[in-house]
Amino acid sequence: THPKEPRDVSWGFEGPFGKFDQAQLQRGYKVYREVCSACHSMDLVYFRTLAEKGGPFYDPKYPNPNDNPYVKALAADVQVNDIDSETGDVIQRPATTADRFPAPFPNEAAARASNGGAYPPDLSVITKARSGGPAYIYSLLTGYVNPPAGLTVPAGAYYNPYFPGDLTAYWSGDAHHVPPGGTLAMPPQLAPDKVTFDDGTKSTIDQQAKDVTAFLTWAAEPKMIERKQFGFGAMIYLLLFSVLLWFSYRRIWRNVA
Ligand code: HEM
Repeated sequence: THPKEPRDVSWGFEGPFGKFDQAQLQRGYKVYREVCSACHSMDLVYFRTLAEKGGPFYDPKYPNPNDNPYVKALAADVQVNDIDSETGDVIQRPATTADRFPAPFPNEAAARASNGGAYPPDLSVITKARSGGPAYIYSLLTGYVNPPAGLTVPAGAYYNPYFPGDLTAYWSGDAHHVPPGGTLAMPPQLAPDKVTFDDGTKSTIDQQAKDVTAFLTWAAEPKMIERKQFGFGAMIYLLLFSVLLWFSYRRIWRNVA
């Protein structure tokens, strides 16, 4: 059965002039760090990227992201695996800005073993990897509802009308009216006040979902704003160039009958 269409969100980062809201990215990082990172890796993201231009914790005082004291402290709050250069033992140490976000499980088998057989996907590029993009991620996170009467969801699975799937086998009602969506192994993750926002923003499920989705969208393409701005400049340049070309064309052919 078809999943429900993702809910429409008017994101500030969409469109040719879109921009990320830095405070929102900061809140989103906190949701990822305190909630999602317990199960989901983000293997492609380095701590220093948080401090780069356009990033959640960019501060013009620190043009070199590795100098940003706030991001240094955020990294140091997280433990990463390393190898002791003296003994060769695997050790844990606080992360630095040069480290990637560590994965919560050593490998896929361990991740599945902790999640009832399901694999929590890496979230580095999830907003690009899933059809529906940010709207889908937001809808999935906020979309959990009780299964409608007639739908028997197996143990360890959770009904979500936005998750693609086939519910026919679990449906005892009219075969032409199988409910939309599917079941997934991720329980609902967000709850009011689950994360305390440092900027005083009210911590509702909706806010947490929007903020973490914005953060994941930024992480999937940290240079999106630069790309759009460059593209706009290129269009202006091409426009002026066309005008110039038109007049030089007229001039070159001026005396040709
Ligand atoms: C799947 C996001 C927290 C366990 C997913 C998917 C997304 C997601 C986008 C993929 C859905 C799809 O395939 O289309 C998040 C976010 C979280 C979060 C943004 C934090 C707010 C967690 C936590 C756990 C978890 C804490 C573990 C307790 C899983 C599992 C799956 C999954 C097992 C695979 C489900 C399946 O394929 O059946 N999550 N997640 N997630 N997540 Fe999470």
